[in-house]
Amino acid sequence: MKLYRFVIFEYMSKYIINGGKKLVGEVKISGAKNAAVGILAASIMTDEDVLIENIPDVWDINVMLEAIKVLGAEVTRIDRNTVKINSKNANLTELSDKDLGKMRATYYFVGALLARHHKSKVIFPGGCNIGLRPINLHLKGFLALGANAYEEDGYIITEANNLIGANIYLDTVSVGATVNIMLAAVLSQGVTFIENAAKEPHVVDIANFLNSMGANIKGAGTDTIRIKGVKKLHGTKYSVIPDQIEAGTYMVLATITKGDITIKNIIPKHIESISAKLIDVGNQVIAYDEAIRVIGSEIILPTSIKTMPYPGFPTDMQPQFTCTLTLANGRSKIEESIFENRFKYVEEVKKMGATITIDNTTLIVDGVKELEGRKIVAPDLRAGAALVLACLAAKGQSEIDKIEYVERGYEDFVNKLIDLGADIKKIEG
Ligand code: EPZ
Repeated sequence: MKLYRFVIFEYMSKYIINGGKKLVGEVKISGAKNAAVGILAASIMTDEDVLIENIPDVWDINVMLEAIKVLGAEVTRIDRNTVKINSKNANLTELSDKDLGKMRATYYFVGALLARHHKSKVIFPGGCNIGLRPINLHLKGFLALGANAYEEDGYIITEANNLIGANIYLDTVSVGATVNIMLAAVLSQGVTFIENAAKEPHVVDIANFLNSMGANIKGAGTDTIRIKGVKKLHGTKYSVIPDQIEAGTYMVLATITKGDITIKNIIPKHIESISAKLIDVGNQVIAYDEAIRVIGSEIILPTSIKTMPYPGFPTDMQPQFTCTLTLANGRSKIEESIFENRFKYVEEVKKMGATITIDNTTLIVDGVKELEGRKIVAPDLRAGAALVLACLAAKGQSEIDKIEYVERGYEDFVNKLIDLGADIKKIEG
């Protein structure tokens, strides 16, 4: 079965932005995309109803929901942020539509289908072109659990007679591998330990979702996750956590436009490393129970950043911070330690007048007085969002092409920016 064509992804639309305004006001954060994609994949692991609330209405989520329908599940959209899924009749184990290969998270169906049906054939994942993005650690985990798992002709293929708990050490901290192995292990026999596991809030959220279905997972959010296999999972009702990267993006927006923005519906703990950096560069940051206010300063101070796995400074915030530091009053250094090709936006922001040199995995940024509006292109999701921030701060008019990248991960992006006073409009491709 083919995906419904309405989710087909074309890079055709653009934003027109007139920058230079201080953005002021309040913005409500949506559900976390990177938690929701894992939760949706996990929802097919039970025959009972699963009700999921606070999912962001973005392209990646809609593709995941179409894929779940292709597998034979019943998907009922209660509203744009709430969905009910019943997979009683979902007996297919193959996902081959080429549009699924345009995003990363469809690979979570491998672990979920392997756990439920002991087999899967899923098109190799795509996703933002920010590095090689291998899946060797995913395969290592599946093999350790007793499955046969391999790549062939652009597919990830797995099959198993039984899945038996195992001790799995991840050589590199990997969000995707941690989640996929957790999915594959929850219905296995025995106990699985994932060592050197990723600790991101979305990993914890997916583990909490699985436990709400009757799984037995302990230690999510630490270096070691212990999964005790259970016989079956039952239905559940669950609400996705807020998106800490969307929140961080609006916090940086207050900085780069020297504005004053209150970001609502967040978990302050999840954005501690971002808040700390914003204070380092001169912002006033006021934390409330479920909100944070960022008051930008007239002078942005230079700083040094090294991206690290959670709770370190997130790689998904590197482009947004770099664009802000192009306007700092001095030299900053940004080291990208997670992905090997996450600087493609640098050439675009240099067209706007930024002074940046690339030294292997490090950027040297010498702040300039102002950026000039230009015609530029979004190279991927977070870089695209970062370039929108740069255009909102720049003098004059900008045009950003291929903004479908950005709308994959930011719900109602244009409307939320307009509500903060931005002069932005979308030209549909
Ligand atoms: C997830 O990607 C996120 N995507 C990414 O967010 C995020 O940047 C990344 O985690 C890091 O936080 C989703 O959750 C859908 P990884 P993922 O596996 O799982 C290496 C966004 O903007 N690695 O944690 O693909 C890999 O090459 C996106 O929302 C292996 O070597 O990232 C990288 O260097 C962009 N072998 C490092 O681990 C493997 O088998 C971290 O990658 C897997 C990964």
